Amino acid sequence: MRVFSLFAIVGGCSAVKDYLFKACADSGFCRQHVDNDGGGGYYVQEESLELTNGVLHGVVSKVQPHQVQLPFEISIVENSFRFRMDEQRVVGHKRYNEAAKWAFSENAQMGHLNYTRRKTSVDVSYGHHKKVVIQMNPVLFTFYYRDQVQLVVNEKQLLHMGLEPMGLEPMGKEPMGQEAIGLDFTLKGFSHLYGIPEHADTMSLKDTSGSEPYRLYNVDIFEYEVDSRLPMYGSIPLLMAVKRDVSIAIFWINSADTFVDIHKESNNSSVHWMSENGVMDFIVIIEDKPRDVNRVYGRITGNVMLPLLASLGYHQCRWNYNDIEDVLDVHSKFDEYQIPYDNIWLDIEYTDNKKYFTWHPENFNDPGRMLQVLNRTGRNLVVIIDPHIKTGYEVSQGLIDNDIAIKNSKNEVYHGHCWPGESIWVDTLHPASQPFWNKLHQRFIPDKYQNILFWNDMNEPSVFDGPETTMPKDNIHYGQWEHRSVHNLYGLTMHEATYKSLLNKQQRPFILTRSFFAGSQRTAAMWTGDNMSRWEYLKVSIPMILTMNIAGMPFAGADVGGFFGDPSAELLTRWYQAGVWYPFFRGHAHIDSRRREPWLAGDPYIGHIRDAIRLRYAMMPVFYTSFYEASVNGTPVIKPVFYEYHHHKKALDIEDEFFLGDSGVLVKPVTDEGATTVTFSSVEWGDTFYSFTNGVIGEKVESLAGGGGSAAAAVTLGDIPMLLKGGSIVPMKMRYRRSTKLMRYDPYTLVVALDKENRAKGTLYVDDGETINGEYTYITIEADASGLRSSSAINVEKVIIVGGSTINGVSSGNLKQEGGRAVITNATLPIYFVV
Ligand code: NOJ
Repeated sequence: MRVFSLFAIVGGCSAVKDYLFKACADSGFCRQHVDNDGGGGYYVQEESLELTNGVLHGVVSKVQPHQVQLPFEISIVENSFRFRMDEQRVVGHKRYNEAAKWAFSENAQMGHLNYTRRKTSVDVSYGHHKKVVIQMNPVLFTFYYRDQVQLVVNEKQLLHMGLEPMGLEPMGKEPMGQEAIGLDFTLKGFSHLYGIPEHADTMSLKDTSGSEPYRLYNVDIFEYEVDSRLPMYGSIPLLMAVKRDVSIAIFWINSADTFVDIHKESNNSSVHWMSENGVMDFIVIIEDKPRDVNRVYGRITGNVMLPLLASLGYHQCRWNYNDIEDVLDVHSKFDEYQIPYDNIWLDIEYTDNKKYFTWHPENFNDPGRMLQVLNRTGRNLVVIIDPHIKTGYEVSQGLIDNDIAIKNSKNEVYHGHCWPGESIWVDTLHPASQPFWNKLHQRFIPDKYQNILFWNDMNEPSVFDGPETTMPKDNIHYGQWEHRSVHNLYGLTMHEATYKSLLNKQQRPFILTRSFFAGSQRTAAMWTGDNMSRWEYLKVSIPMILTMNIAGMPFAGADVGGFFGDPSAELLTRWYQAGVWYPFFRGHAHIDSRRREPWLAGDPYIGHIRDAIRLRYAMMPVFYTSFYEASVNGTPVIKPVFYEYHHHKKALDIEDEFFLGDSGVLVKPVTDEGATTVTFSSVEWGDTFYSFTNGVIGEKVESLAGGGGSAAAAVTLGDIPMLLKGGSIVPMKMRYRRSTKLMRYDPYTLVVALDKENRAKGTLYVDDGETINGEYTYITIEADASGLRSSSAINVEKVIIVGGSTINGVSSGNLKQEGGRAVITNATLPIYFVV
């Protein structure tokens, strides 16, 4: 049994904030569960087993100290094992069982399993090389993949479910009684675990023995600290374990307050999930590689939407631009300084007194004019809408009249405090909230305005006077579900409602959300909330965003420059140079921070920031293609190095170096003050890499490395360290334009980096950048001894080939249409060889 008083001494992951947020020891259910096997003794009632339509039904029971009956079903979803167990209750409420309904995509496919009864166990087999042996008493699942044991569930006998007391303290006062659930998973031969965002911590999850478990509970964590297992604004209960030839994910489908305790022992890792209530529901995905796990998880919960192309451009935000003139002034300065940008943002002050769906009567009295000016150069306006609605105006009255406000435990409309003062909250779990929300958006942005996008903030939900700055857990949602059961998915329901209310527009909706859950990737981008203008926040943004990519929600970013405080010019420059790689790229600042639009940085910083943003735009075809691939395959947009090198143990710990999708572009942002060199580790594993600093292709990196080992490169303040892997073709757009829309017809430059066999390959996705389900072309480009070809015509202005002094047949003669296959056009333009 853990000695809880020790937390104060050894636990300390949260020196400053732990008085605000519950530690495991302060949380009744976590304290009871954390190391407590509750006596074990859960067994499968043999006679209960029955296979119907490929689904295995049965009952788990436990005699002491109280009889519990736990009906379960085992099914196959997308070729993966799903276990779902409820509790047969004589009295009291039903356990919450709808988290999967919100998390899953409509297209998730059910499969069939086969089972064989043995004397004391049952074998369940499904898919290729996948088998689970279910031991009856005590209940234990052993997962085999390719005939090897990979995972054992309940090996530590931490299974817990049911009303029985656990021999510790009296239960909490929750009206539904003690409903907590817990279960352990021992991963065999796995020392590296990832996922379960959101935490400001390393990418590789830490051993939490003797300290705080990771907590998943969506909260508005004011001035969060780095190196912390404290909860943050969003939760995705997906944990990925990676070793040489097998990757596993555990998807714990629960939206209640959850703790995840991790122990690493010799070569194994065990993960103990504990949730405050709900049914027990989990999926185990076992595949060869991390990207295979992402593909399966994407089929279950949906892939990231294909974003509006403009939303991959730069976003300029601050709290707040004061009025229309201010917005238009910032807008025109970007052009004056020849810095591309696509989206300018309005924070809460644009409203009339924080009444969402209104404009400030003086400062924003003619939004149509502002939108029109922005539209001329293809720019969008992004406005904030939060879920707390000020009392005493027509929108809150509408929530009351339609009975779609969240209620308190007495079933009255719940009131709390947020930006507007006294507020009530829209219950977006309620089906009737959708038509209401639709109408609000339609009225607020008439059809003639297309270039408007949305930001849903404070949707954890943040409640200034609530417990842990959120809603009381006994508040009531549609369906009489207690808030505690749905807490972590409330944010998803809100941004999904916003997304749906914008589907009548011509362009794809864009929504930024602060709170998220599994499935949020289908309809929103996220950012990491209120960071600080300090180097350690720049550094931690990379593992945080990589973790979002691992957990299937790649459209992620962090406030460039830091939200609180004023960055030095060097920090701001380095932050832009790192931020250009965030899938969601936005500069933002607190209302009290000094203005820091790029041109205010002065020389030489402004030039470096301009170059960085322009590089993002030059790489736009690669970002867009990676997003398209993610929207089809569930793969990361920025990809941890271990996705390509999981055979190498060292790769499993690299969190400051990453690939841009499958493009072969490898990046290592500078996140240290005064850095003069950067060392790439990925060159150690035998592939050819070329220097690609600032997007300019150069020599093979061995020459930089001075032979063997990792490659150290000198960096100046203007340098963005990048490499390009041999075997890659990168399509870029090199002409400066004011926005992505204006780049649409620009020709491409192809950077071809040949591998040791003199081959290279790349992909390019092209469409109009804004229509949902419109026409598109997905092009493969190949170079080999016979030349350079693409599967459809591409308007190319320049081809740059490296490493190809011996390639045959590559000359301007190859650049023309040839038979049925399209080859690179624009043959008259020169081809440059860099050898
Ligand atoms: C909190 C958000 O995290 C921040 O980005 C925003 O500026 C403020 N709310 C005000 O809306």
